[in-house]
Amino acid sequence: MLAGILSVARRNNPLMGITGALICRHDLYLQLIEGPADAIDALYARICEDDRHANVELLLSEDMGERLFPNWAMLDDTAPSLFWSAEDVAAGALEAASPADLRAPFIRLSAANPGG
Ligand SMILES: Cc1cc2nc3c(=O)[nH]c(=O)nc-3n(C[C@H](O)[C@H](O)[C@H](O)COP(=O)(O)O)c2cc1C
Repeated sequence: MLAGILSVARRNNPLMGITGALICRHDLYLQLIEGPADAIDALYARICEDDRHANVELLLSEDMGERLFPNWAMLDDTAPSLFWSAEDVAAGALEAASPADLRAPFIRLSAANPGG
């Protein structure tokens, strides 16, 4: 399923000026989407309608300045970048996280992919 999502993302995102990263774990997708605001809004609306996941939540929306993943249509990561356990997530850790907490796994992932 992840391969299917990534393959569509990597086909579509460059056409929309979108880059980003998708951290995937059995209980969770955590995705950073970067690009023009209107393109992000359109993509987010599509993702919300996708029944391959449930309980989509917008955790943070902000002007970013420089992109973290300028050369990745959608980088994937199978969770080593995450520090919340499944139990933390179930107990609401993501909703309670600060903007800096939410940025942190993506900053680590970007640093681990130089030139990303
Ligand atoms: C967790 C998750 C992340 C996704 N990320 C993207 C994405 O970055 N770009 C994208 O085009 N589709 C993404 N999708 C798929 C969209 O929901 C949708 O199926 C797709 O954009 C439809 O594209 P198509 O009309 O070209 O088939 C994602 C889906 C899921 C479940």
